[in-house]
Amino acid sequence: MTTPALFITGAGSGIGRAVSLAAARDGWYVHAADIDHAAAAQTLEQVEQRGGHGTGHGLDVTDAAAVAQTFTALDSAAAPLRGLFTAAGIDTGGAAHELDPAVWRRVLEVNATGTFLVVQRALEAMMPGGGSIVLCGSPAAQVGFAAGGATAYGASKGAISSMTRTLAVDYAPFGIRVNAIVPGPTETPLMWANVPPAEVDRMRDQVEREVPLGRMAQPEEIAESVLWLLSDRASYTTGSLLPCDGGVLAKSSISV
Ligand SMILES: NC(=O)c1ccc[n+]([C@@H]2O[C@H](COP(=O)([O-])OP(=O)(O)OC[C@H]3O[C@@H](n4cnc5c(N)ncnc54)[C@H](O)[C@@H]3O)[C@@H](O)[C@H]2O)c1
Repeated sequence: MTTPALFITGAGSGIGRAVSLAAARDGWYVHAADIDHAAAAQTLEQVEQRGGHGTGHGLDVTDAAAVAQTFTALDSAAAPLRGLFTAAGIDTGGAAHELDPAVWRRVLEVNATGTFLVVQRALEAMMPGGGSIVLCGSPAAQVGFAAGGATAYGASKGAISSMTRTLAVDYAPFGIRVNAIVPGPTETPLMWANVPPAEVDRMRDQVEREVPLGRMAQPEEIAESVLWLLSDRASYTTGSLLPCDGGVLAKSSISV
């Protein structure tokens, strides 16, 4: 029996790394890709330390030619591509009226266009045999963050929400399911990307007070929901945006 392969972007850190390790545990052959090649290689090392197998790639998801080249080089005979998880993302915030248009473009380029470029090649690889794609959304696609400054990030994740639904419909006839995970505040470098280091502890306390479950998520908790969406256990789930957010999206901040 052949081993199914899972391609993961942003695999060098946070949620992407946690998904890589959980995927290896669940029997996937793991293709770990990140713009930071050394970080992707470290993830692969950790996969192998746990008895898993895979490959590591330095890949900027915004480089269409590099994405195509990477997918062409995958050994799909040994391990046919059956899964994709797109975690590569950045969050550069700022008040909309002051935001440099170059920052807006970069956030959209990485989070939305970069996701699309990888999805294109994964669809091609999966169309003959089916598969499962999980994109990475955010509550910022559905609500305004209290901390503010998430215009570009929220817009990029809005693109993920609509991509998820349209791709799910278009590729259902090929046996390809497409869903998005919607993580709540998760302890990763991206979470604190717009917070001065001296403010991080105070902000963490505040966030933990605001989340209904009373704490932030660990990346491993998000990974378990992603692995479920990737697996046949989710065989009738497609086009869904699955919150794994401690209740953030269920909550209104109005107290009376
Ligand atoms: N951490 C959270 O609270 C949270 C909440 C909701 C959604 N998310 C989403 O989860 C995903 C993973 O984020 P994370 O929290 O694990 O952050 P992270 O910073 O730990 O990981 C992001 C990874 O993406 C890589 N990356 C950035 N630009 C890239 C590019 N152009 N090409 C390839 N790789 C690139 C980075 O090198 C990094 O390894 C992101 O899409 C993020 O928007 C995170």
